[in-house]
Amino acid sequence: MGWRVTLGSSTFSPFRIKRHAGGNGTLPTLTVEGGTPLKGEVRVSGAKNAVLKLMAASLLTKEPCVVRNVPRIGDVFNMIEVLEGLGARCSLDGDVLYIEARDLHPEAPLEPVREMRASVQVMGPLLGRLGEVKIAQPGGCAIGARPVDLHLAGLRALGATIEERHGFIHGRAAKLVGSEIHFDLPSVGATENIMMAAAVAEGETVIRNAAREPEIIEVQNFINCMGGRIRGAGTDTIRIVGVGGPLRGVDYTVIPDRIEAGTLAVCAAVSGGDLTLRPVIVEHMELVVAKLAEAGAAIEVRDETMRIWRKGKLKPLQIRSQPYPGFPTDMQPQILAMLTTAEGTSIVTETVYSSRFKHVDELRRMGADITVDGRVAVVRGPCELTGARVEASDLRAAAALVVAGLAAEGETVIEGLQHLDRGYEDLAGKLASVGARIVRRVPSEAIVP
Ligand code: EPZ
Repeated sequence: MGWRVTLGSSTFSPFRIKRHAGGNGTLPTLTVEGGTPLKGEVRVSGAKNAVLKLMAASLLTKEPCVVRNVPRIGDVFNMIEVLEGLGARCSLDGDVLYIEARDLHPEAPLEPVREMRASVQVMGPLLGRLGEVKIAQPGGCAIGARPVDLHLAGLRALGATIEERHGFIHGRAAKLVGSEIHFDLPSVGATENIMMAAAVAEGETVIRNAAREPEIIEVQNFINCMGGRIRGAGTDTIRIVGVGGPLRGVDYTVIPDRIEAGTLAVCAAVSGGDLTLRPVIVEHMELVVAKLAEAGAAIEVRDETMRIWRKGKLKPLQIRSQPYPGFPTDMQPQILAMLTTAEGTSIVTETVYSSRFKHVDELRRMGADITVDGRVAVVRGPCELTGARVEASDLRAAAALVVAGLAAEGETVIEGLQHLDRGYEDLAGKLASVGARIVRRVPSEAIVP
């Protein structure tokens, strides 16, 4: 079996590999040789967890929408399949995505929906636009059960009738009417789903205990550019005044990805390197920056540029993932991997998901000393990580294994790249461009001509 070596995922669509490849022997792997300090400048791509919602929100209008700074990642390709399965027309040209949702039908395509939980974000727009939606129940995933009860409760509060039968969710609404909605917990997706439905409901909707992530503000800005009337995003109370008529098309540029930027910053710190990241909106990642500084990294921010380098040995940390503006759960695996090399014992508590420590077993195979008790991981450092063959279980666990590979002595081979490709645009290529000895290996049999 010949190996075709490529430096990044831009040479193929992860979907072609995954859907046509056989067992483990024909899936791509990343080989990382640790010990090289990363030096140079890296571009940060558009925010995955914003762009997927803006794609869903584009269903609220018949007019063409243009979304710019779109990352070429698996989840975007998957959401394109969802939108096209609903009847929309999409084309991605470089980082510019054109969407025209002129003629829609309410039934979302099964396969892409089951690939990605974020597909559930089309429920609000479809109920608002068509008065009906039928979508497969999004499964749980490696990081825990991920129910959608808050999404459904919010849509019911707006007047939709929702049935859950035979693994499908079927929603109908002759008319959506504004309401006051109190979330039991600040769910990002549920907040966004209700914002989109309420934007075209009759009357005013107030969401209390809303999620406050920067991506929520993106959804507000996008819909307001379409003619919507939303305010309060970024706080725990969001007010939406439904507009009587249809919304209009929009040309919108997405913010940079704060989690990719955080991941790259951790790579700089763990490798003892010196990286410049741009563009970065540092206000979106203040606690990540504060924690990296507390661990002993030096950070310099100028406009939309962040320089991060390491001064001496890394210090241990107490990390507690929380809804925004707390420490982001999507950065927990990556910083935990970094802390295995810190001089002392760190405590990492995961409060958002029930089982987001799947990366720990693989880090242990590399020599890490970590004990997990429920939602708390105790990381004893420093330990000399050694390269091993490891398998990613989810997107951020894959990123954590890359972080560990950069620090490990010898070669680490990472399987399960379909997880990494969902949310990072050519991470291997970006790291290789600043000196990482990292190679993506794609077995030639797996490439579909
Ligand atoms: C978004 O997921 C992100 N995904 C996640 O990023 C991120 O981890 C999460 O927000 C929290 O910040 C996208 O934006 C595409 P939630 P979402 O609803 O909206 C529970 C990544 O790595 N919950 O805020 O699904 C849920 O089980 C991904 O990029 C309910 O109980 O997150 C979880 O424990 C992973 N009922 C917690 O709330 C509901 O109806 C937070 O979920 C909804 C959620």
